[in-house]
Amino acid sequence: MIELVSLTKRYGEFVAVDALSLSVPEGRITGLLGPNGAGKTTTLRMIAGILEPDSGEVRIGGLDMAREPLATRSMLGFVPDRPFVYEKLTGGELLRFTAGLHGMSGSVVETRIDELLELWDLVSWKDQLVESYSHGMRQKLILSSALVHAPRVLVIDEPMVGLDPRSARILKDLLREFADRGGTVLVSTHTLELAEVLCDQMAIIDHGQIAVAGTMADLRRAAESSEAGLEQLFLRITRGATDLRIASLLDALG
Ligand SMILES: Nc1ncnc2c1ncn2[C@@H]1O[C@H](COP(=O)(O)OP(=O)(O)OP(=O)(O)O)[C@@H](O)[C@H]1O
Ligand SMILES: [Mg+2]
Repeated sequence: MIELVSLTKRYGEFVAVDALSLSVPEGRITGLLGPNGAGKTTTLRMIAGILEPDSGEVRIGGLDMAREPLATRSMLGFVPDRPFVYEKLTGGELLRFTAGLHGMSGSVVETRIDELLELWDLVSWKDQLVESYSHGMRQKLILSSALVHAPRVLVIDEPMVGLDPRSARILKDLLREFADRGGTVLVSTHTLELAEVLCDQMAIIDHGQIAVAGTMADLRRAAESSEAGLEQLFLRITRGATDLRIASLLDALG
């Protein structure tokens, strides 16, 4: 459903995403994992059409994003890692605004907004300014705004940030149901326990390239380790020499 073909993004001389190719199927939850600075956010922003690739292609549902930006964007709900929200809008206004951008209007919008807010127990906050929302409440609002136009594809940069355990459970169930109904989910996360229970498959990105992609079984095969958990596999695949560094730091600290 999402096809990335030799996607490249440079910041000056620095190559943040390096000829990255990845296929994200529908009906599945795919986790994008990788060390800080590996290129996850840059990749997700290119998929969302917020950042233009220097070369390569993003295809969504068979459409080329560069050629058909509106059609591809209408298929997509995107939750950025650091969302910009107009503080002086109410939650309801923000969702109405997003729905308007997608060409929705009328009573269907109000019904959709109420359903989304109800999911998170936020109905009583509908007419409150976003500036009065807590961190987790904002995340729920942004998640709602990514869902308001009923997209077929959800792309979420760190989905669980700020969510309490009950809300995290709701989101997990929601993503599972969304994928079971044929939707496509791509999430970046550092929470490997989450990735292990939530994701059907993972792509591990390192230095702007996909180091390995597939199910847990595929990852175990790639790391030549039949029993390993995701943390061990991640560390092996991204080659973290952390133990040595911790020991030498503590030695230095006395
Ligand atoms: N606007 C920018 N200007 C210059 N360099 C950037 C910019 N945005 C990102 N980078 C660099 O590109 C690389 C990839 O960044 P990116 O944010 O995609 O990483 P990430 O995998 O999302 O990391 P994290 O796990 O910390 O969120 C990093 O080295 C980062 O410093
Ligand atoms: Mg990031």
